[in-house]
Amino acid sequence: MSSKGNVAVIGYGVVGSGTVELFNKNLEAIKKKVGRDCGIKYILDIRDFPESPYKDIIVHDFETVLNDDEIEVVAEVVGGTTFAYDYTKRLLEKGKSVVTSNKALVAAKGAELLRIAREHNCSYLFEASVGGGIPIIRPIYKCLAGNEIQQISGILNGTTNFILTKMIKDSMSFEDALKLAQQLGYAEADPSADVEGDDACRKICILGSLAFGKHIYPSMVHKSGITRITLDDVEYAANAGYVIKLIGSVKKLSDGSLSAIVCPRLVPKSNMLASVDEVYNAISVTGDGVGDVLFYGQGAGKLPTASAVVGDIIDCLKHIHKGLNIFWEDSSLDEKFVVRYKDINASMYVRIKADNAAALKPAVSEMFGKVMYIERENRPDDELAFITPNMVESDIDADLAVLAESAEIASKIRLF
Ligand code: HSE
Repeated sequence: MSSKGNVAVIGYGVVGSGTVELFNKNLEAIKKKVGRDCGIKYILDIRDFPESPYKDIIVHDFETVLNDDEIEVVAEVVGGTTFAYDYTKRLLEKGKSVVTSNKALVAAKGAELLRIAREHNCSYLFEASVGGGIPIIRPIYKCLAGNEIQQISGILNGTTNFILTKMIKDSMSFEDALKLAQQLGYAEADPSADVEGDDACRKICILGSLAFGKHIYPSMVHKSGITRITLDDVEYAANAGYVIKLIGSVKKLSDGSLSAIVCPRLVPKSNMLASVDEVYNAISVTGDGVGDVLFYGQGAGKLPTASAVVGDIIDCLKHIHKGLNIFWEDSSLDEKFVVRYKDINASMYVRIKADNAAALKPAVSEMFGKVMYIERENRPDDELAFITPNMVESDIDADLAVLAESAEIASKIRLF
């Protein structure tokens, strides 16, 4: 048997402790899968954990990990883009493979870190960065590699899906549902990254970069979150046959450019994504050979995410000094391969507030043509909700700007 595969884990938070727990629980089976002895040699954290069974392998100095030639694979589960970036770069430059759940870092620096890994015959793997425990990165770069990917869209954030589910099914307030998601360990350290759509945006950047071969940076993606969704919108949507979900999507357009958008959408109840509830994520991928495939599972949480991290560790230990060839090209921020979202067609749900709102119906019809009005129980007289035809979004906005002279535009949500 060849040398022992030593692993270090950087960051002993929710995902880090889950990774250590799962790795050690299944260690005997993992050794068989790897084909040699292996184990976690260090856990790096700034804190001490005197009560932990792993207290003896806690270290505080990154150099201990970096300079130990016996460490082959490092799980970076510390998060963020400062220390994590510096550590990852230096580890890869030393030829140590790095696996991560850090979507912020992959979305910001993926192209560069993948290039460094390739140059040093090691791997940079990030299965846990999208969809928690759902296998989605490997399927895209391996199993679906024979396809030209046409689009990817899905529910990519567990926290917001959990919140929306609680609002839709239990009429729970946004604030209470968010608190519960935080208690369950789903939310980011700063939950605004979940509810404002940044987390889903990073994930669609990663999937889009992987599928289309060129780095899509978060600033190229139009993003809006769920903080302005009200229980009234939920009710109107339900009455029209929809549920509201935060959807990330990236799509190849006929001229070869891409659309990339993260926003809440009205999803028809008949669509499979509509029944994806709680912390579950689902990602639909369309390829020219395979057609549509759907990936479904727990998108956040300690052990589901650890499942993906440990899977990556095993893959690295099996391919030491070879590197798993995941790669996408870098792009410059001013490139225009992602089109302006306002130039894309959309149908829009709109809710307006105005004294005697129904009196505005003729004006609304004149602007948008045939709209579908939606009712809700006890609709107040000062409220009107409708769905526009499919139009270029900048035209919808121009019409809404005129309507805003006589009404407040309370909600505007794209249809799926
Ligand atoms: N905060 C993220 C979510 C964690 O809720 O999906 C998993 O990436």
